[in-house]
Amino acid sequence: MPLRASARHYLMCRPTYFAVEYAINPWMDPTAPVDADLAVRQWAALRRTYLDLGHTVDLIDPLPGLPDMVFAANGATVVDGRVLAVEFRDPQRADEAPAYAGWFARAGFEVHEAKLVNEGEGDILLAGDHILAGTGFRTTHAAHARVQEVFGRPVVTLHLVDPRFYHLDTALCVLGGEAGVAYLPEAFSPGSRAVLRRLFPDAVLADPRDAAVLGLNAVCDGARVVLPAQATRLSAALRERGYETIGVDLSELRKAGGGPKCCTLEVRR
Ligand code: ARG
Repeated sequence: MPLRASARHYLMCRPTYFAVEYAINPWMDPTAPVDADLAVRQWAALRRTYLDLGHTVDLIDPLPGLPDMVFAANGATVVDGRVLAVEFRDPQRADEAPAYAGWFARAGFEVHEAKLVNEGEGDILLAGDHILAGTGFRTTHAAHARVQEVFGRPVVTLHLVDPRFYHLDTALCVLGGEAGVAYLPEAFSPGSRAVLRRLFPDAVLADPRDAAVLGLNAVCDGARVVLPAQATRLSAALRERGYETIGVDLSELRKAGGGPKCCTLEVRR
């Protein structure tokens, strides 16, 4: 089965107010310097990359006082034109939830309230007929049942065990084609590893050194994978499997624990 790219629709948020002001994951050090202008330029290059690939990018207005709002993946989950709103674990990000829900409501989407803590596409990823749902750090296990109810698709719970890989999208990337996904086995509980082996016997397994630069925080359109430029082994492994890879540098956003996928929310009409 040849790999086939398809035009995607993404929602992004310019990192106008980006900063590392608190620490809610091990990547964040509020005492370390961050180059805010460079963060904006790196983000703009990511957006340009999507446009050059033929994708549509909508923008949501950033809000002052919400330095992590650039991580649009955490703003919602959108499948079949239906939107599940989010509820953040940490109070520092709480006000992002109504901002994203409001954007979708104004755009005419049916928005379902979160009811339980779920951090959107950070932990909830559509992979073929299944929805893969992470838990252990942010999204609660109970929220997975809500995801299944709202979308009417089978939800597979995956337990994350390494605090560096606190969202599912830092430990696993959905790909098109036979591989289905790329992931870091060490980031999952033994049972979840067994589930992933069973569902995706041909998956691309990531090297821990690539995961450590957030290499798995990547965006695939079916044939082309946009990933952190530093993830050189993963890029080579993907090319070997027929994918085109496009490296981007998001060094400043990584200081908050985010990469390309975190900045990108897929809007599925
Ligand atoms: N600082 C943010 C947080 O800890 C980073 C979010 C990254 N987003 C993602 N989808 N992994 O919540």
